[in-house]
Amino acid sequence: MNEVYEFNWVEVADYDEMSRLAAELFEQQVNKKPDSVLGLATGASPIGFYRNLVDRYVKGRISFANVQTFNLDEYTGLEFSHPTSFYSYMEEHLFTKVDLPAIHRHLPDGEAANLNEECVRYERVIRESGGIDIQLLGIGVNGHIGFNEPGTPFHSRTHIVKLAESTRARNAKYFPSAEEFPRQAITMGIQTILEAKKIILLAFGEEKTEAIERLRSGNVSKDFPASCLHRHSNVTVLYGK
Ligand code: PGA
Repeated sequence: MNEVYEFNWVEVADYDEMSRLAAELFEQQVNKKPDSVLGLATGASPIGFYRNLVDRYVKGRISFANVQTFNLDEYTGLEFSHPTSFYSYMEEHLFTKVDLPAIHRHLPDGEAANLNEECVRYERVIRESGGIDIQLLGIGVNGHIGFNEPGTPFHSRTHIVKLAESTRARNAKYFPSAEEFPRQAITMGIQTILEAKKIILLAFGEEKTEAIERLRSGNVSKDFPASCLHRHSNVTVLYGK
C-alpha cells in the first residue's frame, strides 16, 4: 500500500465542464452496475455535478432505484432537518429529485446519543453494502478531504473531528452566526476513503490552485491529507480555474 500512483489529471475549461464530466463518470458507473455504492460529498464544488446528475435522471439516462449512497461527513449536534446540515444539502440537491430509496441514503448521524458507536456503525454499514464503488471528493484549501484535517493519520476510519479554524472560517458563511457553527463533525476516515474502488476529486477556482499544486507535487504527508490519494491506484482529478 506504500506504492505511489499517478493520478488521471483532467483540466477543465469551466465549472460546467467539471460538473458534466463528473456526472458522466457516475452515470457510467451506475449503468454498468445498477446497484452501485456511491460515496458523495457536499460543499460548493459538487452543486453543478448534482444538477447534472438530476438532469440525466429526468432524461431517463440513469436510475438510482438500486443505488446506495454514503456521504463523507456530517456536523455533530445539528438536527438532520437543520437547513445547514449536510443531510438538508443532500435533500435539496439530490435526494428529493431522484428515485433513490430513503433507506439507501446514508450519512453519519451527527445527533447520535453515542457518537463513537455511530462511527463504528457507519463503517459497518459501508462494509455490509459491499464497499464504495466510486467516491466523490472536494478538497479544502488546507488539503482536507471529507473533514480529515491536516495531521489525520492515513489509517483513520470514520471518526469525530474538531474542525480546523480555516474550515470553520470558510463554512461559517452558511450559518446565521459564527457561534452557531458546529465545532465538530463525523467524517469517514482516510483509510475509509482509500478503500473506495474509484475516486473522483473536484477542485475548481483560484482559491484551490495552491492545494492542487501541492497535490501535483506528489509529496505524500499527513500534513496535507489529500496527498494520501497518491496511495490509491484509480484517482481522477477534475480541476480548473
Ligand atoms: P467546497 O469545499 O467544495 O465548498 O470548496 C470542499 C472542501 O472543503 O472539502
